[in-house]
Amino acid sequence: MSKKVVIDCDVGVDDALALILAFHSPELEVKAVTGVNGNVPLQQVFENIQKVLSLIQPQDKPLIAKGADRPLKGKTIYAHSVHGRDGLGGANIERNDGERFWQIYSGLADQLIQEMARQYPDELTLIATGPLTNLALALQRDPEGMRKLNEVILMGGAVRTKGNITHLAEFNLYSDPIAAKLVFESGLPITVVPLDVTHQVSLTSPLIEEQVKPIQNRFSRFLIEAIGYDFTTHRFREKERIYLHDPLAVGVAIQPDLVRKERTSLDVIVQEGECYGQIREVEEGPKIEVCFGVEASRFLDLFFARLK
Ligand code: BDR
Ligand code: CA
Repeated sequence: MSKKVVIDCDVGVDDALALILAFHSPELEVKAVTGVNGNVPLQQVFENIQKVLSLIQPQDKPLIAKGADRPLKGKTIYAHSVHGRDGLGGANIERNDGERFWQIYSGLADQLIQEMARQYPDELTLIATGPLTNLALALQRDPEGMRKLNEVILMGGAVRTKGNITHLAEFNLYSDPIAAKLVFESGLPITVVPLDVTHQVSLTSPLIEEQVKPIQNRFSRFLIEAIGYDFTTHRFREKERIYLHDPLAVGVAIQPDLVRKERTSLDVIVQEGECYGQIREVEEGPKIEVCFGVEASRFLDLFFARLK
C-alpha cells in the first residue's frame, strides 16, 4: 500500500529533485505540493512548483497551494547563491499553461495541510523540505486536526555537526527558527533529516559521469542543467558537489530503514546572536526521531533508479 503524502517545499534545485523522486516512487502517492518562502521568494517557489510538475507530468493531479511569504518573525533570507536567481539553477523548463498537471487550491498552504490531515486521519505523511512556517501556521490554525498526521519528515537542522548558513545553523531552521521551535514542541510524530545525514549524500563529478549521464532522459538533462555541470571540463561550474538534502527526506519516507535514528528532544535558539537558528538536544520536551546515520550508497542507488 502506498503512503499518501503532502510535500511542503521552497523549490530550490534539491527540492525539485525531491519532487521528481517522490512522483517517481510507487511507494508514495503525492496528494499535494505546497510552497513556502525559502530558497527564493514565494511567488518564484510557486512558479517553480508548476515548472517542475510540468516536467514530471503526473497523471494524478496533485493540489498545489501557496503558503507563507515570510517567516513568523524576522527577515527573509534567500539562497540564490546556491540555487541561482530563479531557484532552478537557470534550467530551461517550459511551464505548462493551464492546470493540466496540477490543480490550484483556493486557500493557503496551511489550510490545505490541515484539511488533508483531517481528510486522511492517521494516514498522511507530511514531508517538509523548506522553512517550517506553513507547518507552524497549520498547527496554530488546527492543532487537533494536525494530530491526525501519521508522520512528519522534515529536512533541517545541524544537530551534532556544523551548520551551512552560519557555522552553527542550517538554512531551513535559520530562516524561521520560531516556526521550527513550535513544530518541535508540538508533540507530532516527527523525523528530522539534518545535515548530519544529508552531508553524506551528494552528487560528485564521478557519479554524474557514470550514473546520471547515461540516463539521457528529460529528468537527467534537467538535473545536469540545474546543478551547472559541464561535460567539456568534467566539472561543476561553481561548486564541487551538490548535496541531496531534500531528496533524502523523501528517501526516508520511501525506505525508512535507509537511516539510523535516535530519539531525542530538540530545541531551537530564537534569540538574535551567534547561535540564532541553532538546534540543540535537550532533556525536556517531546521526543523526536533524529537521523544520525544513512546507508548512502543504497540511497543513491534508489535516487538514480527513480531518475530513470
Ligand atoms: C536546505 O536548504 C535549502 O537550500 C535546501 O533546499 C535544503 O532544503 C539545506 O540546508
Ligand atoms: Ca529546500
